[in-house]
Amino acid sequence: MAQPQSGPGTSRRSFLRNVGLTGGAGTMLATMGALGLAPTAEAAQREQPFRAPQPGDFTLTGRGAAKVVIVGGGIAGLASAYELGKAGYDCTVLEARGRTGGRNFTVRGGDATTDLHGTTQTARFSDGQYMNCGPARIPQWMITLDYCRELGVPIEVFTNVNADAYLFNESAGMKKPVRYRTAKADVYGYVSELLAKATDKGALDKELTATDRERLVEFLKDWGELGDKLTYEGGERRGYTTVPAAAGTPGVLLGDVPSASDVLASGVGRYFSFEFGFDQAMLMFQPVGGMDQIPRALTRAIGEHRIRTGAVVSKITDKGSGVSVTYTQGGRTKVIDADYCVGALPPNILARIPHNLGSGVQSALEAITPSSAAKIGLEYRSRWWELDHHIYGGITETDQDVTHIWHPSYGFHGARGVMIGYYNYGGDADSYAELTPKEREKRAVAAGVKIYGEKYRTELASSFSHHWRQTPHLEAAWHNTPGGPDDVRYKSLNEPTGRVYFAGDWLSYTDAWQHGAFTSARKAVTALHTRVLSA
Ligand code: PHE
Repeated sequence: MAQPQSGPGTSRRSFLRNVGLTGGAGTMLATMGALGLAPTAEAAQREQPFRAPQPGDFTLTGRGAAKVVIVGGGIAGLASAYELGKAGYDCTVLEARGRTGGRNFTVRGGDATTDLHGTTQTARFSDGQYMNCGPARIPQWMITLDYCRELGVPIEVFTNVNADAYLFNESAGMKKPVRYRTAKADVYGYVSELLAKATDKGALDKELTATDRERLVEFLKDWGELGDKLTYEGGERRGYTTVPAAAGTPGVLLGDVPSASDVLASGVGRYFSFEFGFDQAMLMFQPVGGMDQIPRALTRAIGEHRIRTGAVVSKITDKGSGVSVTYTQGGRTKVIDADYCVGALPPNILARIPHNLGSGVQSALEAITPSSAAKIGLEYRSRWWELDHHIYGGITETDQDVTHIWHPSYGFHGARGVMIGYYNYGGDADSYAELTPKEREKRAVAAGVKIYGEKYRTELASSFSHHWRQTPHLEAAWHNTPGGPDDVRYKSLNEPTGRVYFAGDWLSYTDAWQHGAFTSARKAVTALHTRVLSA
């Protein structure tokens, strides 16, 4: 696999490049300008301040809050209802599944799913154990954390990078895994050595002054732990076979420093840039007790009575003076009328719902395509990765079809724990989806045994696998939005068509993050509220 690290971020980087080119400040700026929140275009580009609708907004205008039907009870839909609710809007959320949260989905013992193949799984995790099937990590800069604060959802550190987790590239001939710290010491060491020697031999004389070169070599000696002859010979950064302890036990360094050529051939260096990513850099966070604490808190704040679950939308009709949404619930077809509608379903699902919003909306929805991702949770009878490997949280990266193996960032030193045995995307996720849950477990365990040894199999208590493309009413882990969300072909989704507004991470520059859903919902809410205030 060429880029085991890459998820949806790859395309997002090109979107970001394009923003500068197309100057896509869009509707947000216009609506914020209308509210007097965006004094200059520059300020709006720099950051997009959000002011939640408030009851007081209506006092001088003589206008009242409107009735809004929100299609989809995922993060974007819930956030829309939550924010509009602050100003007294009469919101109703229609959610097709039995619970809110959308792709924010945490599985605990007793939870059951039925996928599109008709396969039902019931999780057998023990008390206190869970797996986040969807979102599982939150960077500090994302507004998801602001919502956690506001809603009183406690958070804890999610360990995204761990020096003691493993790297394993079997296709490069590795017979056993190497610790991150060892791989980093070797890669940084040799790269530093080569650059320092090249500098010394005059290779950079044209680029750098003598002082620059001196400073560069100084840096490389420190960065690569080089000796006086500017050579890398290993060192304590690689780790020990016996760790330093009391007097008499100075420690035994990990032996067998590989050659530069072997280190380059192992390909381990490809994993290091992950932690530099703007959206993946430590520290990262997770809600205590499962990611679904966020939709649960939103659901409570909105009010359960405003949310209809098991409500499958079958038609959206803009009547000019209002919106009519048809849905079935408990075998009965119902219609709800409102002043406005927020369409907060995934685009691949919305595209299948009959509507009268025009062909522009339809072709925009169809241009956005769904992507696959999957996870398997493996519950173990012991936390052997802590006991035997001294790994507390973090991710092991592999060239196997399981791609990422996650150690739990909660329940340290507990009796049991749930590892994520695969978190994979695209074709890898699809190939596991074709298997039965038992076969998935078998294949994932076989890959893990190569890295961790037999306990990966013998300590296993139960497993639960989840595949987003095969999940009813969602059918996607995230989406590919060609050209980025501000591309002109999505104009009818970004600038509401009639009385229907759209919201979702797929209409943001942070697809596959709750931040995208929250910011997109805020944008829709701001536009809707501005319109109601001036209608
Ligand atoms: N947010 C998801 C994750 O962190 C999906 C994603 C992966 C998004 C990689 C960007 C980059 O796993």
